[in-house]
This record gives sequence, structure tokens and C-alpha cells, in this order.
Amino acid sequence: MITRIEIDGFKSFRNFTLDVPPLLALVGPTAGGKSNLFDALDYEAAARAGGFPLVESGRGRPHELVHRVANGRPVDGFSIRVHRLVRVDEGFIDVVSVAGAGVDAGPCPADRGHHLSWSGTDQDARFPQAVRDRLWRLAGTVGDGSTAPDTVLSTARRIVAAIGDGGILAPDPRAMRGPGWAADLRPLARDGANLAAVLGRLRDSAAFDDLTADLTAVIPEVERVVPEFDDKRQEWFFDLIIDGQGPVPSTLLSAGTLRTLGLLTALHDPEHPGVVMIEEIETGLPPSRVAELLRRVQTRVSDLADADSLERPLRQVIVTSHSPVVVAGLYGIRPDSLVVLNTAVSADDGRTSRVTVARPAREDGDGPGSYLGDCLDAVGRGIS
Ligand SMILES: Nc1ncnc2c1ncn2[C@@H]1O[C@H](COP(=O)(O)OP(=O)(O)OP(=O)(O)O)[C@@H](O)[C@H]1O
Ligand SMILES: [Mg+2]
Repeated sequence: MITRIEIDGFKSFRNFTLDVPPLLALVGPTAGGKSNLFDALDYEAAARAGGFPLVESGRGRPHELVHRVANGRPVDGFSIRVHRLVRVDEGFIDVVSVAGAGVDAGPCPADRGHHLSWSGTDQDARFPQAVRDRLWRLAGTVGDGSTAPDTVLSTARRIVAAIGDGGILAPDPRAMRGPGWAADLRPLARDGANLAAVLGRLRDSAAFDDLTADLTAVIPEVERVVPEFDDKRQEWFFDLIIDGQGPVPSTLLSAGTLRTLGLLTALHDPEHPGVVMIEEIETGLPPSRVAELLRRVQTRVSDLADADSLERPLRQVIVTSHSPVVVAGLYGIRPDSLVVLNTAVSADDGRTSRVTVARPAREDGDGPGSYLGDCLDAVGRGIS
């Protein structure tokens, strides 16, 4: 689970820090930096995977990823630090993953590699007692150029496996309608293409019942999800049982239905690394259903202060939204999850540029003219 993100010099971020709760909704005006934050997490994931993050991650050519200034010295590189609480057999580890690139000569940055460090002690104050009681107090570092002992490397490998890959979902309904291979035991892919295989794997589990309960609450016309196995082809496929319609094959399902099913499947899958990220959570759903989806999602994310919740796999959901229904809905039930990303002109150390600024809802206020106030007004001040 991501607990803090620090970004300096990447896209619209300079000296940016955001504490990340188990449910985070990034809202705010257009071009505020919501997708840039996802891009930063994508970059860090690509660096962690040992790839070529400058060319593999997100939007923008390599030289466009470095923060641009209107006046003053150009920024000479960027760093992205992601703090996570990671569970291994021995307990929780507080892990920091650092990726970045630097501009030494010319406009094109060079990858500065990836660095992983963990410590069970120095960040204690940020965690509730229930987490502190379960911290595995050891320290280690890999990626600074020196050779780490085997025990440290094996811990690093376990940490990287527990973090998994990025976790960003960009569901593609066309891909989600297809069959899934029997041998595909992976969590849901970014585009959702292995949805049928994940549903097949979950079919007889308690997670599947919870997933069905959430789906039918959000889309009441759906009665059941029925994964089926085709022995001859060794493929999974699935139908939804729709009230008054009977079995509807995945090939015919609507985009909004598939997106919702994909999001809930990732959220309930015990094999999923536990951070589910999706842009514009409202896409494909009418407003009343968006509110129900949020109510469901917020009961499924981990509660770090609750010992029982910590016994289950860690679950975190990070979304972006433009919907006043999302803002008003969360403002009513979980205001701590709302963060407004906006931009402001910064004139710091002789440089002038436009930077992303994060304001938690409780600081941003809900008065007239504020972003939250406008959203609340748009929906008649909220949903109960
Ligand atoms: N290298 C860079 N330096 C400075 N600013 C940048 C850089 N790259 C991107 N930006 C700024 O980021 C903005 C886009 O931000 P982003 O896509 O994150 O917005 P958003 O909040 O997702 O908006 P929307 O609500 O429209 O999706 C661009 O308009 C650009 O001004
Ligand atoms: Mg965006």
C-alpha cells in the first residue's frame, strides 16, 4: 500500500509531497496534475521492473518529462519517491522506492536507475499502533551500486514481488469481452484482457461471493456472474445473469458493466498486489450508481488502525474524478480520501514555473468559489 509520494522535477511537480490514505480520490480542475501523478507512479513501476522507464512509461517523450520553467535555470532532473507499507511473512515493512533521471548535457535526460530501501523504525509515527505492532524491524538497501548480501537481496526480491507491477487499470472493454487462458493465473492485466481467467480462478472462493455482492449492489439488473470452462479449448469465458434477460455472454456486455466488473474483480482478487488505480471512476455509470460504487469500495479498502483489517490482504484504491457526485459522495462519508490537485505559479530559487499543489479537502474548504464548494453546490450539497 502506498503511504506517501514525493516528486521533484517530474512534469508539473516540484518539491511535491502527498500522504496517501487507503482510499484516495484525486480531484480538481483540468490540467491540475492528476494524470501526471499516475504517470509518476507508472515511471516508478517501470524503473522497479528494471525496464527503460524514460521510454516505456506514460505520456510524453523523455525530454518532456522534466519540469519546465518559464524563467530561470532549467531543472536538471527528477526524482520520484514512493513510500509503501509492504506485507511479508514476518510482518509489515516500510519501504521507499526511488526512481529518477538527470540531465547532464543537452536536453535529454538519462535514467538514474532505481533504489529500494526499507526500515522498520524511522517512520513509526506515521502509522497507527496496530501497524506499529506488526512492523518487521529490519533495514536494507539495494540499488546504490554496492553489492548487497544475499539475505538483503532475497528480502528485496520478496518486497518487489509483494509490490507487484503498477496497479493502474485502464480497462479496455473490447479486450475484456474475450476468453481467458486456463494457464493465466495472473491478477487482472492493465487493460483487463484476462478478466475471464481471473473470474475463473476466483469462481469457488469467498472473494467471488463478495465481488458478486458488490457488483449486484452497483448494477442491480445483474443477478450473478457465471464463469465457465471450455475443456476443449482450455479457456475461460463468462456470462452475466441479467434480470429479465437470462445469461448474457461477455461478448455482449456494456462498457460500463465491464469496467465496473473489472474494477471490483481487481479489488477482490487475493492475488492482486493490492493497489488498484483507475482514472475517472465515474466513467460508464449513472450518478446514483457511482455513489453506490464508492460506498462499496470504501468498505473494502484496508483500515490501518484496525487489527482485523490488517489480517486481510492490504487493499488500496486510488482514483481520479471530475464528477461532483464523487466529490459530494466522498465528502459525506470519507472526507479524508479527497485531495484537490490544482496548479499555482511558484517562484522558488530563482525559477518561475507552474506547479501542482495538493490540498486535502479538510484544508481546501467547501466555501463558495472553492473547488469543493462548487462541486457540492452542483449536486445540491451532497448525498447521504
Ligand atoms: N514537463 C512538464 N513541465 C511542466 N508542466 C508540465 C510538464 N508536463 C506536463 N505538464 C503540465 O501538466 C498538465 C497536464 O496535467 P495532467 O494531465 O496531469 O492534468 P489532469 O489533472 O489529469 O487534467 P484532466 O482533468 O484534464 O485530465 C499540462 O497542461 C502541462 O501544463
Ligand atoms: Mg487527466
